[in-house]
Amino acid sequence: MPISDPEPLLQVTGLSASYGNIRVLNGIDLTVGAGEIVALLGPNGAGKSTLLKAMMGLVPTTQGSVSLDGFPLTGRATWDMASLGLALIPEGRMVFRDMTVEENLAMGAFPKPHRAALGRNLERVFGLFPKLKERRRQFAGSLSGGESQMLAMGRGLMSEPRLLLIDEPSLGLAPVIVREIFDILRGLKAQGVTIVLVEQNTHMALGLADGVYLMRAGRVILAERAAAVDLDHLHDLYFAREGAAGIAE
Ligand SMILES: Nc1ncnc2c1ncn2[C@@H]1O[C@H](COP(=O)(O)OP(=O)(O)OP(=O)(O)O)[C@@H](O)[C@H]1O
Ligand SMILES: [Mg+2]
Repeated sequence: MPISDPEPLLQVTGLSASYGNIRVLNGIDLTVGAGEIVALLGPNGAGKSTLLKAMMGLVPTTQGSVSLDGFPLTGRATWDMASLGLALIPEGRMVFRDMTVEENLAMGAFPKPHRAALGRNLERVFGLFPKLKERRRQFAGSLSGGESQMLAMGRGLMSEPRLLLIDEPSLGLAPVIVREIFDILRGLKAQGVTIVLVEQNTHMALGLADGVYLMRAGRVILAERAAAVDLDHLHDLYFAREGAAGIAE
């Protein structure tokens, strides 16, 4: 089932993880080619956020491996991930409310090599998100939902990641803002950034992605090129009742 790719940038093989004795990732295989966007879909509780966290070393894994450009990430500390080329833009945005927009962005350039490039990367982020530039001295706690999401994305870009993991960027935002965020993602792809995008908005995710993975109950139950996806089949799998035919729970 894995999507074959001659030169995967990200390779996840047989990855399993548990919270206590409850297994939430069960032998996940996933590959993302350099410069591609992969959409990671699935109902609530499927394990999408856990998979991103496991890649970042935020959730300990019990089996399997993760590698970036052939370099093993499994077992590496989270604070090394920025230097290794990974950035996570977490679910719920997690901006530092009592810090200014600019201070929040500087936090994304925390690892030493990235501090040297702080000015250049700030200008790049302000170029992508002009509203953040206007509000650079404003406390993050006073931003709108859309602006907070842009700040979280900007912060993730401050370390110049090769692989960006984005967890539900459109959640709770107005359609016009969602379109703006998808345009930014399209722009990042054009700049060569590889992206794993967790999304509830299947339609928009499919419009952007090269590859699609559908997760349920800790497993990948569908892996396809986006152009080959049959939407009806995808929805059937997405919404099927637990234990329904074809779905191993
Ligand atoms: N810190 C935790 N401790 C224990 N169980 C957890 C923890 N975080 C998540 N889980 C459980 O792991 C499973 C997968 O959760 P996860 O957050 O990865 O799902 P998700 O696909 O991101 O869902 P959503 O679409 O709601 O964000 C769920 O059953 C959840 O209750
Ligand atoms: Mg989640």
